[in-house]
Amino acid sequence: MIEIHQGAFGDEIFAACFAIRWSVFIEEQNVPVGLERDNDDETATHFLALIDDIPAATARAVHRSPHLIKLSRVAVLKPFRGQGLGETLMKAAHNAFPGTDFTLNAQLHALPFYTRLGYRAEGAVFDEAGIAHRHMVRLSASTR
Ligand code: COA
Repeated sequence: MIEIHQGAFGDEIFAACFAIRWSVFIEEQNVPVGLERDNDDETATHFLALIDDIPAATARAVHRSPHLIKLSRVAVLKPFRGQGLGETLMKAAHNAFPGTDFTLNAQLHALPFYTRLGYRAEGAVFDEAGIAHRHMVRLSASTR
């Protein structure tokens, strides 16, 4: 059974989210610790997906303006990938902020994942933490 929880900086949900980020971004993708942690953690809503009570995926949402949210740190632990968990988590984040536009910086391999969820790529490829990215935007249903 999948459950999605929301947390905030410093609470136990955040700790579980950060443990997943550590495993995926720092250990698997070699992102430097100093880049993985940033000030957005303090204001973000942190989403945690549990499968049968096991922390398995995370993402965070930060308001950039009243109607624009930036999603980042989208990560599913390796053994749980390819089962629809990332998609379920993203939809939960979208549903948590109805009527809001979303933006994110997508690693190139994940473009099809986000495109399926209504995001469109904008602009050129750029480097973030040594990984090629593109900016993507998802307009809310009311403005699409
Ligand atoms: N490349 C291409 N398409 C992908 C993909 C990938 N890496 N991951 C998912 N998709 C697509 C597939 O079309 C899939 O549909 P299908 O079941 O018909 O094949 C659909 O997205 C839904 O996939 P889902 O099972 O929900 O994805 P997931 O749970 O494996 O999560 C990621 C996807 C990208 C979050 C996960 O692979 C991950 O955590 N990767 C490492 C961290 C990372 O790169 N995060 C993204 C930072 S921008």
